[in-house]
Amino acid sequence: MKKVGVAILGMGVVGGGTYKILKEHRELYQKSYKVDLTVEVVLERDRSKALALGIEEDRIAANIQEICSNPDVDIVVEVMGGVEPAKTFVLDCLRAGKSVVTSNKELFCKYSHELEAVAKKNHCGLFYEASCVGGVPVIRSLLDNLQGNNILSMMGIINGTTNYILTKMAEEGAAYEDVLKEAQRLGYAEANPAADVEGYDATYKLSILSSLAFHTKIPYTKIYREGITNISVADIEYGKKFGYVLKLLAIGKNGENGIEVRVHPSFIKSSHPLASVGDSYNAVYITGDCVEDVMLYGRGAGALPTGSAIVGDIIYCATHTNYQYSTFKNTEEAAQSTKFVENFESAYYIRLNATDRTGVLAKVSSIFAKCKISVAQMLQERGPVGEDGATPVIFITHVTRENNIKKAVQLINESEEVAKVAAVIRVVS
Ligand code: NDP
Ligand code: HSE
Repeated sequence: MKKVGVAILGMGVVGGGTYKILKEHRELYQKSYKVDLTVEVVLERDRSKALALGIEEDRIAANIQEICSNPDVDIVVEVMGGVEPAKTFVLDCLRAGKSVVTSNKELFCKYSHELEAVAKKNHCGLFYEASCVGGVPVIRSLLDNLQGNNILSMMGIINGTTNYILTKMAEEGAAYEDVLKEAQRLGYAEANPAADVEGYDATYKLSILSSLAFHTKIPYTKIYREGITNISVADIEYGKKFGYVLKLLAIGKNGENGIEVRVHPSFIKSSHPLASVGDSYNAVYITGDCVEDVMLYGRGAGALPTGSAIVGDIIYCATHTNYQYSTFKNTEEAAQSTKFVENFESAYYIRLNATDRTGVLAKVSSIFAKCKISVAQMLQERGPVGEDGATPVIFITHVTRENNIKKAVQLINESEEVAKVAAVIRVVS
C-alpha cells in the first residue's frame, strides 16, 4: 500500500472539512485507490481550532519549516487564504519538493505563473480544483474532459455567498445585512466578506476559469467588476414583473473581436437553467463548439463540498507520477497580446425615479434615441410611490453597447425633468 503523508495549512472551514473527509474515508481510499492517506501535521495559529478537531498536540507544527523538512509529508494543502504568508509558505513547500493542493483563488489567480514555474522546476504537483466553484469539478472538466472543444463562452454563478444573499432577498425579502451575517455563520463568506459582495472573489475565479477555457492568461484586472452592494429588494421585485431572476453572473466570451470578461449583477429569464440555482449552490454553463452546452452544478462553498474538491486533488496527486499543469500561456506578460472587449453588448434594465409630470417620458425617449438605445418594454407605477415621492419608471432595452448606456445615464441625470437614474442592471439573454 502506498503511504502518502498530508500536511494542512489552516484549520478553518475548508481545512476542518478536508481533515474530516480524510479521516472518515481513509479505508475507502485504501480499498479503492490502494493509497493510505494520513494527515501527518497541521499548521494553525489558533491551536485550539486544531485541538477541537481531535488533532494531537504533537501534530501541530510551530512553523512552516517544520513541515518543509518533515520527510513524512508528501502533499501540502494550503487553505489559509489571502496572499501572504500563503504565497511564501506554498513556495517554500514546492522548493522542498512537496506537491501543493490549494483552495486559494486569490493566490492562484494573482501568482499562478510564479507558483507553477517553481512547481515544474521542483517536479511537484500544483492543484487548485477547490479554488473555483467549491465542490463543482469545473477545473478538471476544462483540463481533461472538454479540451477537444474550442470553448466559445462560459456563464456562471460562481460565488456562494452572493447567491445565498440574492436568493434570500428574492424569496423572503430578507435584509441584505442580515443574510450576509448568516452566510458568514455558515462558513461561505471570505475572511473579509467585501471580497464576495464587491465581486472580487468571482473575478479571481473567472480569471482562472477563463484562462483555462481560452488558453491565455486573463488577469483579474481585465475583468469588468460590479458587486451586489447596490442591489435593492425593489429591483429584484420589479425584475420579477418582467419574468427575470437576479444573479451575480460571471461571463466569459471568446469571439472575433476578442475576449470579453465581466462579473456583475444580471437579470436572466426565469426559464434559464441558471435561474433555478439558489442558496449557496453554484453552476457554470459552458458552450463549446463540439459539445454545445454543458452545465456543471453543485455547492459552491462550505466545508465538506470544498473539502471534496481538495481531497479529489490529493488523491489525483497521490496516484499520478506525471503532473499536469495549466493549459494556458501561464506567464505574466501573456495578456499583453490578448485583445479584450470593453464596450460590450447587453440589454439593460433601467429604473428611473421620475417626477410625475408632462414631458418626462418624451425627454427620456429623446435621450435614448440620441444614444442609439431602443426600448423593448416599459413599466410605470401609478402615482408617486418611489423614493423621494418620485414615480418609478422601468425600461428594458434591446441589446445596445455599454458606452451608449453610460452616456444616456449621464444625460438623464443632467436633465431637469427626471430626478435620477436609480438602478441600471444588465439583462442577459
Ligand atoms: P477560514 O478563515 O475559515 O480558515 C483559514 C484558517 O487559516 C483560519 O483558521 C486561520 O486562522 C488560519 N490561518 C490564516 N493565516 C495563518 C497563518 N499565517 N498561520 C497559521 N494559520 C493561519 O477560511 P476558509 O477555510 O473559509 O477559506 C480558506 C481558503 O479557502 C480561502 O482561500 C478561501 O477563499 C478558500 N475557499 C473557501 C471556501 C469556503 O466555503 N469557505 C470554498 C472554496 C474556497 P485565524 O482564524 O486565526 O485567522
Ligand atoms: N466565499 C466563497 C463563496 C467561498 O462564497 O463562493 C467559495 O469559494
